[in-house]
Amino acid sequence: MEEKVRNINDCYTLANGVKIPCVAYGTFFETEVGNSDIFEMAIDTGYRYFDTASAYGTENYLAEAMEKSGIRREEFFLASKLRRDCMGYEETKKEFERSLKRLHTDYLDLYLIHWPLPTPDYKEWKTLDLACWRAMEELYREGRVRAVGVSNFMPYHIENILKNCDVPPMVNQIEFHPGYSQEITLQYCRKHNILVQAWSPIGRRKMLEEPLILKLAEKYKVSAAQISLRYCIQRGVIPLPKSSSYERMKQNQDLFAFEISEEDMYRLETLPQIGWSGQHPERERIYFE
Ligand code: A2P
Repeated sequence: MEEKVRNINDCYTLANGVKIPCVAYGTFFETEVGNSDIFEMAIDTGYRYFDTASAYGTENYLAEAMEKSGIRREEFFLASKLRRDCMGYEETKKEFERSLKRLHTDYLDLYLIHWPLPTPDYKEWKTLDLACWRAMEELYREGRVRAVGVSNFMPYHIENILKNCDVPPMVNQIEFHPGYSQEITLQYCRKHNILVQAWSPIGRRKMLEEPLILKLAEKYKVSAAQISLRYCIQRGVIPLPKSSSYERMKQNQDLFAFEISEEDMYRLETLPQIGWSGQHPERERIYFE
C-alpha cells in the first residue's frame, strides 16, 4: 500500500492483488448532471478511474461517456456502490445487476456497500451487513467484480464483517481531508490491509478557505485544492476529486511535482476539525450553512 505513485493512473495493489489507480474522478453532484458532457470532459483530461454509485444517478451518463470515448472497457477502472435502501442478500444481487445495466458493462472493478446502516437508528445492522456481504462474496467469486469493499464504515462495522467473512473487504471509502481525517478508522484499515479512499477530499471547498492550507499553497506554489489532494496521496489514501471545469480537472491531476514536508504533514494532520460534511452513519445528517 506504500507504493510510490507518479501520475494519476499509477496504481496501488489491493489485498487481493488487483491494481487500482491512485486518483479517481468522483461522480457525485448536488444537482442533476443531466447528460454525459462532464464525464466526456473528465475522460478527455485523462481520468480512467471513475467512482460512481447507484444513489448518485450518474451511472448511465458515465456509461454514455465511456462508450463515446472509444476507449476499451478494460482501460477504465469502474467502481459503484450498493445503495442503502437496497440492502440484503437478494437485493444486493439485484441492485448489482441494475448497476451493471445502467453502466452498460458486464463486470465492475470495484463494488462497495455504500453505508453500513440503511437509517441511523437501524438496530439489526450486523445481520443486514453480513447478508449483503455474502452476496458481495458470491459476486466476487463468480468474477462479476474484481474487488469488493465498504464505504462509510467505522472500525466496529468492519470488525463485524471481518469476524464472519471468507473474503475480507479490500477498500473503505470515507470522508477524508485535512481537518477530518478519521485517524482511528484510517489506522484500523491500515492494520487490516484495507485501502482507504477519500470522498470530498477538498471538503466541499472548505479547504480553499483554511488559513494553514492557503499558507502551504503559497509556500509550495500550488493551489489549496492541490495541497488537500496531495495530503491524501502522502497518507496513502486515494482522493476522489470532482469538478465541473476542464482546468480544475487538470489541476487536480497535477499532484506529483511537489512533496509536502514531514513537518507540514504533521501540521495538516493535527488541524482542529474543519470542513466536516455533517454526515455520520449513525446520526441524522447535520446541515451547515
Ligand atoms: P467546481 O465543479 O466548480 O470545480 P469535494 O470533492 O471536496 O466535495 O469538493 C468539490 C468542490 O470543489 C466542487 O464544488 C468543485 O467545484 C470544487 N473544486 C474541485 N476542484 C477544485 C480546484 N482545483 N479548485 C477550486 N475548486 C475546486
